[in-house]
Amino acid sequence: MKILVLNGPNLNLLGKREPGIYGSQTLEDIMDAVVTRGKDLGVAVETFQSNEEGTLVTRLQECSGRYDGVILNPAGYTHTSVALRDAVLACDVPCVEVHLSNPHQREEFRHRSFTAGACVGQISGFGGTSYLLALQGLLELLK
Ligand code: DQA
Repeated sequence: MKILVLNGPNLNLLGKREPGIYGSQTLEDIMDAVVTRGKDLGVAVETFQSNEEGTLVTRLQECSGRYDGVILNPAGYTHTSVALRDAVLACDVPCVEVHLSNPHQREEFRHRSFTAGACVGQISGFGGTSYLLALQGLLELLK
């Protein structure tokens, strides 16, 4: 079993970026925890971050046959990107959308997700734990 965790723009700045909203953990801290949880469960977890929409689309296009599932935090592209939604729909691999914060408690423009409807589920509001919960949900689904 192989899972890809795909992180979108500005998530490379976690730890320094708006810590009141996103917490003090770095992306590396959070990804290390997901990889470790994967190892404990006998699952290979790979991680990737890009600030570029097209790069994220290409990674999704390359998922079929390589990964059994994807955990996706599209970050700001959640609220803007038809291209990412289309890539999730086309990739033929179940995706779970995650957010560290709860976008529904925040500005109205964050209440709409282009990508969530293309995913099998969405987890938000639990900080780095959102990723661990997404891994758990995805593995249940893939059983
Ligand atoms: C985010 C929420 C988005 O609204 C925001 O643009 C991000 C991070 C989250 O993980 O809470 O960059 O996806």
